[in-house]
Amino acid sequence: MTNRKKLVAGNWKMNGSLDANEALVLGILPEADGAVDVSVFCPFPYLGQLQRLLKGAGVQFGAQDMSAHLSGAYTGEVSVAMLKEFGVSQVIVGHSERRTYHAESSDIVAKKASLAIQNGVTPIVCLGETLGQREAGQVESVIASQLDPVIAECSKFVSDGVWNLVIAYEPVWAIGTGVTASPEQAQEVHAMIRQRLQAMLGEALAQSTRILYGGSVKPGNAAEIFAKVDIDGGLIGGAALSSDDFSGIIRAARG
Ligand code: PGA
Repeated sequence: MTNRKKLVAGNWKMNGSLDANEALVLGILPEADGAVDVSVFCPFPYLGQLQRLLKGAGVQFGAQDMSAHLSGAYTGEVSVAMLKEFGVSQVIVGHSERRTYHAESSDIVAKKASLAIQNGVTPIVCLGETLGQREAGQVESVIASQLDPVIAECSKFVSDGVWNLVIAYEPVWAIGTGVTASPEQAQEVHAMIRQRLQAMLGEALAQSTRILYGGSVKPGNAAEIFAKVDIDGGLIGGAALSSDDFSGIIRAARG
């Protein structure tokens, strides 16, 4: 048995506008009753808007990326200190779209996650294999190559048996495609991730770490995915842009 609280996280990607964000956020607030954790991840310019809209509300918010550097001559980058000024408590790092389109290596992802933790911001670290890698039987080696640098770097910041880190397993072939991993396929990889955490960090930390599933989660398939023992919620893309769909997923996580 575990006491991990489910987390439903909405990754808006490069979508939204001042008007659309407000309607979306107001639409999901009634579902955020504390039974499960809920967060939304907006493009950088909207952090101030979400800080205002979500003040005192039961929904956390965050950014979709951050710099691996603290400050300086890094044109276009946003530092963790800047995120914190806007009340950010969580940040997505290593999303497959960042790895693919911005050549982010697992070492850079590990550095970002570690910087976030050191600054009191919870990283949601994304990992996942491509279809080709799955078909070539490389799921375990790909996950290991993405996860191990993160564990090595971030385990330095475990304090009192706790680290504020969330993992999101997102098979690349399921992101935005409408093809979801079956609950069994997802559970198999989640269990493998937890086993790796246990081997490197011990039972207690492995059991307390939340592992989200991401990739075409919708209100209609969320409940059966979230019912699996090692799946602690979801990282939601497309369906996070509709308050009805996102609310339905929150309800599925509530059980
Ligand atoms: P999707 O995206 O739900 O649209 O598949 C998930 C993600 O990229 O986090």
